[in-house]
Amino acid sequence: MPHLTHGVIPVTRKLFIKTYGCQMNVYDSARMADVLAPLGYVSSSGPDGADMVILNTCHIRERASEKVYSELGRLRKIKKARTGSNNKMVIAVAGCVAQAEGEEILRRAPYVDIVLGPQTYHRLPEMVALATRASDKRNGNGNGILDTEFPVSSKFDHLPVENSSQGISAFLSVQEGCDKFCTFCVVPYTRGVEFSRPIEQVFEEAQRLVKKGAREITLLGQNVNAYHGKNETGSEVGLSYLIERLSEITGLDRLRYTTSHPRDMDESLINSHGKVGTLMPYLHLPVQSGSDRILAAMNRRHTAEEYRNIIHSLRKARPDIALSSDFIVGFPGETEADFEATIALIKEIKFSQAYSFKYSIRPGTPAGMLNDQVDDSVKNERLAYLQSVLLEQQNDYNSSKIGKELPVLFERQGRHKGQLIGRSPYNQSVSVNDAPADLIGTIRNVKIESNLSHSLGGKVLEHGGLGSSAVNGNSL
Ligand code: SAH
Ligand code: SF4
Ligand code: F3S
Repeated sequence: MPHLTHGVIPVTRKLFIKTYGCQMNVYDSARMADVLAPLGYVSSSGPDGADMVILNTCHIRERASEKVYSELGRLRKIKKARTGSNNKMVIAVAGCVAQAEGEEILRRAPYVDIVLGPQTYHRLPEMVALATRASDKRNGNGNGILDTEFPVSSKFDHLPVENSSQGISAFLSVQEGCDKFCTFCVVPYTRGVEFSRPIEQVFEEAQRLVKKGAREITLLGQNVNAYHGKNETGSEVGLSYLIERLSEITGLDRLRYTTSHPRDMDESLINSHGKVGTLMPYLHLPVQSGSDRILAAMNRRHTAEEYRNIIHSLRKARPDIALSSDFIVGFPGETEADFEATIALIKEIKFSQAYSFKYSIRPGTPAGMLNDQVDDSVKNERLAYLQSVLLEQQNDYNSSKIGKELPVLFERQGRHKGQLIGRSPYNQSVSVNDAPADLIGTIRNVKIESNLSHSLGGKVLEHGGLGSSAVNGNSL
C-alpha cells in the first residue's frame, strides 16, 4: 500500500474509539490512537462531531457481539445526518467481532467504511486514506475495506512509539493469541496462534511508560504466562525471567500480569511471587469449573486437584496472595453434581474477587455443536447461587483488611472534592477523602477503615509510604 502520511501537515480531526472486551482491547485502542495521531487525529469523548469512530469489539459471548450491531445502528443515524456536508464520518469496526465476522459486518452494515482485525491496525493510516477517498463514490453503499489477515510480520514491529501517556497504571501487551483451544472459546480463532514479543522490545516500552509517569505496569496476554523469549545468551526463558528483568527498572514500583492459564503456571513463575518485591500479591487464574469431567470436556488440560496444588504452591511462595478466577456455569452436559464440585472448590480456595458467566454458544467452537446444552433457567439459577457465594467471599476478604495499613498507589481523583482513588497491592480499589491531589502517582500507607462492598475506604497515614522519588523496591 502507498505511504500517504509523509510530508503532509495534518489538520486536526476528532477520533472517538469505543472499547469493548478485555484489557488487551484497551491496550489496542490506545495503540490505534497512536497510529492515527500523525494524521492529525486527536481523541474525542463521544461520536457526535467525530471525524472517525472506531468500535473495538469483543466476540467472547453472544451478548458482547450483539452490542456492536446496536451501536452501529446509532452511528448510522449520526453519519446519515452529515451526508452532503463537509463533516463526514468514517466508521471502522476493529477487534474480535471484526476478525470473526468481517464480511458479514459489511453486508449487514454497508455504511461501515473499514473492518480490521486485531493484527492489522498498524495499517490503519492506509485504510483511512483509501476509505476517505472512496467514501464519496460509495455513498455508504457497500465496498468497505476489509483487512483481517494474520500478517507474517508482527504488527509490533510496525507500530509507532506510544504517543499518549497511559497514566499511573499502564497496560503493556507482551503476548497475543492462544494455542489452548478450550472448546467454548473463540480467542484462538480471533487472535490467532500464540505469539510473544521479544524481551528487549517489551523492556524498552516499559521504560518509556515509566518515563511518561507509569508507576505500575500490568503485562497483558490472552495467555500471558505462555510468554516465552530469549535471554542475552540466547536461551529460552519464560514470564518469570521477563518479570525479573522489568523489576530492574527504576521508578517501576508495581508489576502485575493477566490472564494466566493454570497449565502454564510453572515453578519459576510461582517462585517469582515469593522473590520479586515489585510483583504484586494478586493473581487472576481462571479455573472455569471444579468438575474434572467438565474440565476435560472444556479441554482445559488440567484437573481440579492440579489447580488446588498450584494454589497451594502459590500460597506457600507468597502466603498473603489474593486470588481471582473466572467461572463458566451451564457448560454443555453440566450436571448438578458437576456444579456442586465447582462450589466446593470455591469454598475451599476462597477468592478475593472473581468473574462468572453463563455458558454462551460461540459459532464455530466445538462446544457450540454439542447436543446436551443446559437450559437457560438452570444456568440462571446456578449463576445466581455461584455469584452469591463469590460475593460473600469478596466481602469477607475486603472486611479482613479493616484496621490494617496498606500501601496504596494513588491513580486519580474521585468523584467528590478531595477524594482520591488508588489500588492496594491486592488489587482492591481504595478511596480516601480530604487528600491533596499531589499524592496522585505516589504510594502512601493507608489505614483501612471501611468496606464499601466493591472498594475500601481509609485514611492516609502521615508516616511511611513511598514518595514519588522512591526507587524500585518492595512496596509492602
Ligand atoms: N485467556 C483467558 C480468558 C479469556 S476469555 C483464560 O484462558 O482464562 C475470559 C473469560 O470469558 C474466560 O475465562 C471464560 O470464563 C469466559 N468465556 C470464554 N468463552 C466463553 C463462552 N463461550 N461462554 C461463557 N463464558 C466464556
Ligand atoms: Fe480461550 Fe482457553 Fe485460550 Fe483462555 S486458554 S483464551 S479460555 S482458548
Ligand atoms: Fe473479547 Fe477478543 Fe478480548 S473476544 S475478551 S476482545 S481477546
